[in-house]
Parts: sequence; C-alpha cells; structure tokens
Amino acid sequence: MKMNEMKVVVTGGASGMGRHFVEQLLECGAQVAAWDMNEAGLNELKAKHSVDQLLTQKVDVSKEREVQDAMSEAWARFGVINGLINNAGIFRDALLVKKDKRSGELRTMTLSQWQTVIDVDLTGPFLCTRELSARHLEAGAEGSAVIINISSVSRAGNMGQSNYSAAKAGLVADTVTWARELARHQIRVAAIAPGFIETPILEGMRPEMVELMVNQVPVRRLGRPDEIFAGVRFIIECDYFTGRCLDIDGGLRI
Ligand code: NAI
Repeated sequence: MKMNEMKVVVTGGASGMGRHFVEQLLECGAQVAAWDMNEAGLNELKAKHSVDQLLTQKVDVSKEREVQDAMSEAWARFGVINGLINNAGIFRDALLVKKDKRSGELRTMTLSQWQTVIDVDLTGPFLCTRELSARHLEAGAEGSAVIINISSVSRAGNMGQSNYSAAKAGLVADTVTWARELARHQIRVAAIAPGFIETPILEGMRPEMVELMVNQVPVRRLGRPDEIFAGVRFIIECDYFTGRCLDIDGGLRI
C-alpha cells in the first residue's frame, strides 16, 4: 500500500508514539483520524496541523458505542478507512501479591488495576479492529486495508505487569487470529513490540530507573518513536507482510 493513499485511524494519537505516527503519516500525505481521550492533546495537534487531512476525535477505545460512532464519523469524513493503528495503551503496574517487609501488610494487584488495563490495551484493539473490518465487509469495500497492533516487549511476561503482559501477549495472539481470518478480505494485520521508547510514559520515571532499563538493552540506549514509525511504514508498504510481530527493541529479547 502507498503511504499517500492511506486513510488511517491512530488510537492514542494525542501523545507519545501515537502523536509521532499521526504527524509522520500527515507528512507522507495520508489522511489521519487521531483518536484519544486526552482532549487537550488533540486540540494541540489540531492547532499545529490545521489541515483537512487531519480529523481529531475524543474517543475511549474501551467503549463499544464510542468506537462505533467515531468510526462512522471517520468514514463520513474520509471515505473508506484503509488503515488502523491500535496504539492507545496504559499500564497500572503492581505485583500480583506483595508482603510489606516492615508491617507485614499484604498488597495485591487489584481487580480494577487488572481490568482497566485489559479493557484499554486488549478490548480496545478488539473493538476498533472489529469495527473497521465489519465496515469493510458491509461496504463491500474495494482494495485492501492494514491493521497494526502496538504490543510491547512485556508480551513475554514482566515483573509487576500481570495485566499489561497479558494484554500485550493477547494482542499478538489476536494479530495472528485476525490475520488468518481477514486475509480473504484483503485485510492484513501485523504487530510491533517496542522495547523502551522515549515518550511521556518514561518522563515520570526516576532517572536511576531509566538508567537501569537502558543497562538491560544490548544497544545501550532508549529507542525513539521514529524508529517505531519505520516499522509502521514497512508494514504499510509491504503487502506480503501479515500475521507477524516486529520486535523493535534494541535487542532486549535476544
Ligand atoms: P503515551 O502515554 O505517551 O500515549 C498513550 C496515549 O493513549 C495517550 O495519549 C492516552 O491519552 C491514550 N489513551 C489512554 N487510554 C485511552 C483510551 N481508553 N482511549 C483512547 N486513548 C487512550 O504512551 P506511549 O509511550 O506513546 O505508548 C503508546 C503505545 O506503545 C502503548 O500501547 C504502549 O503500551 C506501547 N508501548 C510503549 C513503550 C514505551 O517505552 N513508551 C514500550 C512498549 C510499548
């Protein structure tokens, strides 16, 4: 598929990697619907790129009705949407169980911590992918489409991330499932599992934590959003790529 012929929904488009994807796609001549719950971030994006190519929409990807309505609006504005980047994601880290050394108090990952992450990071992509695919079939849409799921290196399991690891591993499993199911409709589905990438997610961390993270990376540095966008571009442009996950992580998993 050609970058300048893309009409793409980017979830979590107001910040970090999603925002970078939106801006790079616009630069390539694509039409982009940026979805996010962060209205201030969306407004900032709109103010910076006041172009017809960009539609900003306040959407909670974990809410079925909101996803349906937003997809309708995006189709009404751009016509057939042929790309979706399931990028919106959150984490709520906690150990499964933890006993405080001094007080002996037992703490657990709460059901709400578990469920919130599953809702946004796994149910969100399910709802968005289902909505886009259903519309293609309903409309008998000519031509192909591509869906890119942003997973994480944590898909292999990570301390304190029962919820996030389950969601990100589930997302890669569904990448395979959806790729198999949708190939006959000319819809490709692929994933990217980034390592530690410089985004606002990391800004809140203590510098020594970031240093600890960097020391685990064989190439000894954080990744940049443009390095993840290189994967996005590859997946869009390579029509023979589907059902696979690109690990772009500086070698973290080798
Ligand atoms: P970020 O926090 O800068 O951006 C995430 C965006 O998603 C925010 O704008 C947020 O408002 C939005 N969002 C959250 N919940 C939402 C919902 N229910 N509906 C719609 N939008 C929602 O994060 P970053 O770092 O850019 O991460 C993007 C994706 O990459 C996430 O899925 C994250 O899990 C994944 N990732 C990030 C890594 C990193 O090191 N930054 C590493 C591996 C994966």
